[in-house]
Amino acid sequence: MIAVAIDGPAGAGKSTIARRAASELGFIYVDTGALYRTIGLACIQKKIDPSNTAAVIHILQDIDISIVFLNGEQHVLLNDKDVSSEIRTEQASMTASVVSAVPEVRQFLLDLQRDFARTNDVIMDGRDIGTVVLPNAQVKIFLTASPETRARRRLLQLEEKGEKLDYETILVDIIKRDYNDSHREAAPLKAADNAIIVDTSDLTLEESIRKVVGIIKEAVI
Ligand code: DC
Repeated sequence: MIAVAIDGPAGAGKSTIARRAASELGFIYVDTGALYRTIGLACIQKKIDPSNTAAVIHILQDIDISIVFLNGEQHVLLNDKDVSSEIRTEQASMTASVVSAVPEVRQFLLDLQRDFARTNDVIMDGRDIGTVVLPNAQVKIFLTASPETRARRRLLQLEEKGEKLDYETILVDIIKRDYNDSHREAAPLKAADNAIIVDTSDLTLEESIRKVVGIIKEAVI
């Protein structure tokens, strides 16, 4: 099996680029952020403060998360209900960032992620794929971009979905989330030693895709 790990901060273009690269190369695209968002959503639904670690660990007992693919697209089920759209709000994203610092949450999701790579050629995106989840991945890419570029991209994405937020709020959220993700003790966001760093700040989406597909092809095809 071939595994490609794509890690990096929020808004660097990971999911769009990984999805396109996977479809071009015939790999399965696995979005691991969706799993953390699903646990975040469970906290929101149950009105649990995500910084209350004991409460977060406790609700893991009541949570069953599974991934299914419909027409090649990943969907996440929370206790058998498809929550793929509900997890895409800014609130679910911020809650995910907080709960993802809890080691028990990370452990809870580990096998689910690894099982996919055991039986499929995957391009998996996240924060710790190359460092923790799939340390033996044949290709590791760390995709990044400046916070300002990422905030502008996020603003456009949210506008397309009808969510109204201003640029400053998004920029502050991104900087805060970067800090949370890279300063937590459990599997912090960082490039694996053997990762190829790709900065997409000055690249168009198409250029970024071409670059990533080129790196993967050169390494494994
Ligand atoms: O990629 P995303 O924005 O959907 O991720 C949501 C949150 O989940 C993000 O703040 C960090 C966390 N996350 C993580 O800790 N490890 C991963 N492999 C993927 C996401």
